[in-house]
Amino acid sequence: MNGSVVLVTGASAGIGRACADLLAQRDWRVIGASRRATAGDGWAPLTMDVDDDASVAAGVRSVVEQFGRLDAVVAAAGFGIAGPVEFTDMADARAQLETNFYGVCRVVRESLPHLRRNGGRLVIIGSIAGLIGLPFQAYYSASKFAIEGYAEALAYEVAPYDVDVTVIEPGNVRTEFTARRRHVPVPADDPYADASRKALASMARDEVRGADPSVVAASVLRVLEARHPPRRLTAGKANERVGALAKRLLPYRVFERGARGSLGL
Ligand SMILES: NC(=O)c1ccc[n+]([C@@H]2O[C@H](COP(=O)([O-])OP(=O)(O)OC[C@H]3O[C@@H](n4cnc5c(N)ncnc54)[C@H](OP(=O)(O)O)[C@@H]3O)[C@@H](O)[C@H]2O)c1
Repeated sequence: MNGSVVLVTGASAGIGRACADLLAQRDWRVIGASRRATAGDGWAPLTMDVDDDASVAAGVRSVVEQFGRLDAVVAAAGFGIAGPVEFTDMADARAQLETNFYGVCRVVRESLPHLRRNGGRLVIIGSIAGLIGLPFQAYYSASKFAIEGYAEALAYEVAPYDVDVTVIEPGNVRTEFTARRRHVPVPADDPYADASRKALASMARDEVRGADPSVVAASVLRVLEARHPPRRLTAGKANERVGALAKRLLPYRVFERGARGSLGL
C-alpha cells in the first residue's frame, strides 16, 4: 500500500493526528484535514470544516487534483457535548450530530466516487459510546450509534466496488477531546446536578488516564493494510473493551446495574 493516498479528518489533534503521523511514517501519502489545518510530520495539512458541504467538497476535490487519486479515508473529526437531555436545546443536539455524524456522511459522500475507482478503504472513528449509551452524553452516544448503523448499511452498498468500511470503536483516549467537550448550560436548581457531576467526572478521569492515541492509530494502520479488514474493531484498554462484550453477553439489567455502579449513579 505504500504511496497510497489517504485523507485523514481531525488531523490537527488527538487520534486523527496520531493516525496521520503513523501513516506518513509508513509511506502513505497523507493529507490531514481540520479547521485549524495544523501541519504535521511528513504530511500535508488541508483546511476543512466537516460541518460545511462546500468546504468538504472543495477539500476532497483539491486532494484528487493534487494527488490524482484517493485510496483511503480515515474519518476522525469529532467532539463531545455533555449535559442532561432535559436541558440540552435542539441547536446543541443538532451541532453534535452535524459534526460527528453528518460530518462523516459529507466526507464519505464526496470521497466515494474516487474510492470506487480502484477499490478503497473507509475507516470511521466511532466509539465504545456508540455501543454503550453514556448518561449525560446522550447526544454524543446517539451520534456514535448512528455511525454504527450507517457504516453497516454502507458496507453492503460499496462492497461490489471493492470498498471496505470499518468502524474503529476506541475506549478512553488521552486527547484534547476532554478539555474541548462542550457543557450545555443548566439551571441553578438542576435536579440532575449531583448525578451528572459524578458521571462526567468519572468519565473525564478515565479519558485523562486513557490510552495513548497511537494505540488507536496502530489499529487504523492494521485495518488499512489488512487483506480482509473487519467491519468493526474496538481499540484501547482491555477493561473497556470487555465492557462492550459484557453488554452483548449479559442480561441487560445486570449490565446496567454494573455500569451504574462504575459511574457512581
Ligand atoms: N478521546 C476519546 O476518549 C475518544 C474515545 C472514542 C472516540 N473518540 C472519537 O475520536 C475522534 C477524534 O477525537 P479526539 O479524541 O482525537 O479529539 P481531539 O483531540 O479533540 O481532536 C478532534 C479533532 O477533530 C477536529 N474537528 C472537530 N470538529 C471539526 C469540524 N467541524 N471540522 C473539521 N474538523 C473538526 C479537530 O480539529 P479542529 O478543531 O482544528 O477543526 C481535531 O483535529 C472523535 O470522533 C471522537 O468522538 C474519542
